[in-house]
Amino acid sequence: MVKKEVKSVILAAGKGTRMKSKLPKVLHKVCGKPMLRHVIDAARGVGSTRELVVIGSGAELVRQEITDVEFVLQSEQLGTGHAVLCTRDALKNVDGTVMILCGDTPLFTAETLSKLVDEHKRAEVKATVLTAIMPDATGYGRIIRAEDGSFEKIVEHKDASEDEKKIREVNSGIYCFDLKTLFAALDKVNNDNSQGEYYLTDVLSIIRSSGEKINAVIADDFSETLGINSRQQLAVAEKILRRRKNEQLMADGVTLMDPGSTFIDADVEIGRDTVIYPFTWIEGATKIGSDCVLGPNSRIQNMQIGDRVTMQFVYGHDCEVGDDVTVGPYVHIRPGTKIGAKVKIGNFVEVKNSNIGTGSKLPHLQYIGDCDMGSNVNLGCGTVTCNYDGKKKYRTVIGNNVFVGCNTNLVAPVEVEDGAYIGAGSTITKTVPKNNLAIARARQQNFADWHDKRKG
Ligand code: UD1
Ligand code: MG
Repeated sequence: MVKKEVKSVILAAGKGTRMKSKLPKVLHKVCGKPMLRHVIDAARGVGSTRELVVIGSGAELVRQEITDVEFVLQSEQLGTGHAVLCTRDALKNVDGTVMILCGDTPLFTAETLSKLVDEHKRAEVKATVLTAIMPDATGYGRIIRAEDGSFEKIVEHKDASEDEKKIREVNSGIYCFDLKTLFAALDKVNNDNSQGEYYLTDVLSIIRSSGEKINAVIADDFSETLGINSRQQLAVAEKILRRRKNEQLMADGVTLMDPGSTFIDADVEIGRDTVIYPFTWIEGATKIGSDCVLGPNSRIQNMQIGDRVTMQFVYGHDCEVGDDVTVGPYVHIRPGTKIGAKVKIGNFVEVKNSNIGTGSKLPHLQYIGDCDMGSNVNLGCGTVTCNYDGKKKYRTVIGNNVFVGCNTNLVAPVEVEDGAYIGAGSTITKTVPKNNLAIARARQQNFADWHDKRKG
């Protein structure tokens, strides 16, 4: 795909009334990513050099979430035409082609946008609209064509006659315009319609009536142009994008045992020959290496995972796992954790904000929090770092080649030096020097004939 030099205007100021939400519509997530972000990424994918995002409703929330575009404020939402008009100052010294996109259509691909821009340039027209043939056109603006099949106008659903409502070709809300022509036509748009809004769609018939031809290009796949105005449509979009992501991963050499029950966010990267078992969620900015086996029943968020890692029944978030690690079942790896290569984390283990060195073993029932652990450490069952005194958190430092007996409490701040051993059941409160054995537990006492004495 050859990159195009175009500017983009993305409309994202609408209230999203039909979502019934306190969150602006364009920040609702599809496949783990705000819909507005999908639109920005697709625009950049086609080569957009500048993105102006029109915001209004919930503007502050949008600014917090999206920080790498130019914003234009539409303080009153008077319609899509009015929204574009708000960008006039920002674009006053610019000419050429502008792409107009809606922040609530997150499904189109950069390839489709690329075709639209190509068609616009090839036909040498002032305006091109992307249309689609919808199985159910309810809610969309309908494309009215003249007898010769050329574009005539767009009629919004709410303004359409019964006959017009039967038309299944709809406006996707995606256009290419010659900038000067667009703004000249926008001056002539009025709000004389059922919603009392300034419709961007009217610009097309205004340009046409000045004698210019309008190009209406039909998208190959209608599902790319679905607009999201309700939670029901959000769920439909979610399904489509998830399926698309899974298919892409499989095409790239990842095995999904059951794509229908595997949920992978849009920006996740997974290496070849990794196998994902069902009921696994892989979310956010996660990157997974090759030859891993993940799931079943795992939730992986914002994790960096190396090659040949096995994880089952794991919840891991905001952490890193090196090569050749096995984790699970029933493990929670919490933020700030770095697990080194060849580590084994077994059943019922929680690790938080800790560094675990190469080849160390946490095989069963450990809580390791705020700990710096060296390599080849072996933790006995039930080892616990006591990292919190009710007010502050403290670190536990464990050297290399340390052996910790079962049911040991490490009361932080505390250090266990290289090569040290700790007897089972110890509560360690002070440094265990290098190569020492520490036993910190009450000695056993046996009372003879206790059974008989108690009876008497
Ligand atoms: C719009 C189109 C319709 C098309 C459909 C495709 C118009 C008049 N109608 O209808 O022909 O079939 O999209 O999905 O353009 N917005 C603003 N400021 C406003 C109003 C809206 O920025 O004052 C933004 C919204 O945030 C949204 C986009 O423009 O991202 C579209 O607005 P929306 O209200 O969803 O229009 P539709 O009814 O879907
Ligand atoms: Mg819409």
